[in-house]
Amino acid sequence: MTAQPTAARRPSHGIVGAGFAKQLFGKPPERRLKAELDAGLERVEQVLRDEVRYADEVAQVTTTYLLDAGGKRLRPMLVLLTAQLGDTTSSTQLDRAAAAVEITHLASLYHDDVMDEATLRRGVTAAHLRWSNSTAILAGDLLFARASQIFSALGPRAIHLQAEVFERLVLGQMHETIGPAGGENRLDHYLQVLADKTGSLISAAAIYGVMLSGAPSEYEDAMREFGEGVGVAFQIVDDVIDLSVQSEKTGKLPGTDLRAGVETMPVLLLEQRAEAGDTAAADLLERIRTRVAGTTPGSADQSLARPDAVGSTDEAEIAGIVAELREHEVTRETIAAAQAQVRRATDALEVLPAGVVREALREFAERLVDRDF
Ligand code: IPE
Ligand code: IPE
Ligand code: MG
Ligand code: MG
Repeated sequence: MTAQPTAARRPSHGIVGAGFAKQLFGKPPERRLKAELDAGLERVEQVLRDEVRYADEVAQVTTTYLLDAGGKRLRPMLVLLTAQLGDTTSSTQLDRAAAAVEITHLASLYHDDVMDEATLRRGVTAAHLRWSNSTAILAGDLLFARASQIFSALGPRAIHLQAEVFERLVLGQMHETIGPAGGENRLDHYLQVLADKTGSLISAAAIYGVMLSGAPSEYEDAMREFGEGVGVAFQIVDDVIDLSVQSEKTGKLPGTDLRAGVETMPVLLLEQRAEAGDTAAADLLERIRTRVAGTTPGSADQSLARPDAVGSTDEAEIAGIVAELREHEVTRETIAAAQAQVRRATDALEVLPAGVVREALREFAERLVDRDF
């Protein structure tokens, strides 16, 4: 399978463009802040080019593949934004932290797509399909190592936080893979997975800005809480977007999670309803589990997928089931749960001084649940 070269040549802010940053800072009082963030993100792009560089050609090609494919650069933006709470005159350290956070995220995407058997990432063929599972895993490992090198030069607290994040990323993925322990509430388990696999890095991004700009250290706790809430909300919304038809916008195939058998919040809420005696919910749940889970994404021929699904689930049927779930009440409940996490995040901002940075952070959190990408 080949990559899609046109997508790979996209500008560095990628799939949805720098649009998210632009939407956030449209109002006049925020323009100076926006200009500073735009300039910062440009510098971070340069740091990314300089840092993701290997003498080994295979290492170079594989690690820059998804870097060049785009991405929203939300995490680096968060580093630069929270740094505005302190002193940004010496920006080099902040730019390097922002780049290292993005490199960590990038590494996790290589690994995630292997685990999820995803076909598309950032609008291009997933790296494990472009090369192989082993190559994608190794490219991710190289990137994790490179991020650690950058953080280690930023001091012991910076590298310690990175190590904590790495551990939580792995635990999040591990718990998602293994599923809840016997007797564990499935929704609680799910929310813990989200906090670990997504909240940890977004939270760290918000903390690095405070830590490396000399902002008051008491802001770090607020940023931790803000980032966890934002991260969980972001991932809940991402799981809803997984049901979206707009694969061109998302750069992913609709129903990727369901096909891989990953049961996210809409499915867990459906299960609760089924257990409470809702027969329509039980029927939809059954079809998700028997007709969608275990199907090879993007292939009408399911012969490599679950044996009992061989030749029996076509793309039209999968699309229909995904659409039913998308339109179901449980998906609205899921969005409400994301909104509750956003409130948790914005409540944490109360300790910050009133002003344009606090408002931008509030808007950053609120826009996340409105996004359709
Ligand atoms: C994708 O993150 C992985 C999740 C944690 C949901 P993003 O949606 O930020 O991905 P990019 O960086 O824009 O590709
Ligand atoms: C991504 O989670 C989390 C990490 C990259 C650690 P998902 O598997 O839900 O994200 P997408 O939907 O593939 O981006
Ligand atoms: Mg995934
Ligand atoms: Mg995953």
